[in-house]
Parts: sequence; structure tokens; C-alpha cells
Amino acid sequence: MGYRGDVYNIFLIAHVITAITAFGPLFVYPALRRAGETATLAKLHMRIVFPSLAVLWVLGMGLAGLSDGLIKVADLWISLSIVVWAILMVVSWFLIRPSIHGGGPRETSMLSAGIGITHLGLVVGLYLMVFTPGF
Ligand code: HEM
Repeated sequence: MGYRGDVYNIFLIAHVITAITAFGPLFVYPALRRAGETATLAKLHMRIVFPSLAVLWVLGMGLAGLSDGLIKVADLWISLSIVVWAILMVVSWFLIRPSIHGGGPRETSMLSAGIGITHLGLVVGLYLMVFTPGF
């Protein structure tokens, strides 16, 4: 048990797999966008990316909890990653979800903004996880 124990490492593997399912679909978005498949894109996002992000957070908090007090929510890299995560959840719901039934130019431009922010969130999230600033 504890930091780098078996349970911790299993949580870490699950966290990384969930990061892959949360961000993997992003690589298909440009092709879907070019094909005008905005509703398919929004559905993929809400069915795979959104729930994956929810699980990603739960497992991340689990890791902090299992770390024997070594990793705290108040740590810069953890608190910033929670902020990034919260932004991605809000962006998913309010900018991407409205395109689920297609929609007009307004929905499509919200979708584009949402996708851009999500890509940025992935890069910032990975930076925080790997460089762990302040740790
Ligand atoms: C925002 C998107 C996120 C991505 C892409 C992501 C990805 C990753 C990756 C790839 C690792 C493995 C890195 C390593 O161990 O060197 C990792 C570790 C970890 N993540 Fe995340 N994560 C994200 C969000 C979060 C959140 C929101 C939390 C906390 C609530 C969190 C907590 C942790 C912890 C505690 C570790 C373990 C670090 C270690 O033991 O070295 N992550 N994450």
C-alpha cells in the first residue's frame, strides 16, 4: 500500500489508460470536422471523452489519497490540473454538447472553440503531470 505500492500503481495505470481514452478521440476530430460530421463529433465527445474525464479525476484524486500524504490537492501541479480539468468539463458541456443534434453556425463556432480549448487542455494537463511544477 501507499505511494508506489501495488494499489497505487494499479490506480496509476488506470489513470493513464483513462487519459488515453479521454484524449485519444481528439485525433479524429479534424477529419470529422472536415467531413462536416459535427453531430458525430459531439456525440463521440459526450459518450467517450466526457465520462473518461470524470473517471480521470476520480483516479487522480485516488492517487493523491493513496500517496501517504506525499501528493496533496494543494500542490501546484495538482490544483492547476484540477482547474484545467474543470475547464474541460465546462467546455464539453456548454460548447461541445450543443452540437449533438447538428446545429447552425453558432453551435459550430462554439464547437470549434471547444475543440481548441480541449486540445490545449491536453497539452497543459500532460505538462503538469510529467513536470509536476512545485513538487
Ligand atoms: C488534465 C488531464 C490529465 C492528464 C492528461 C493526466 C495524465 C497523467 C499521466 C500521463 C500520468 C503519469 C505521469 C507520471 O507518473 O510521470 C499522471 C499521473 C498522475 N496524475 Fe494525472 N492526468 C490528468 C489529470 C489529473 C488530475 C485532475 C489529477 C488529480 C486530481 C491527477 C493526479 C495524478 C497523480 C497523483 C499522478 C501520479 C504521479 C506519480 O505518481 O508520479 N491527474 N497523470
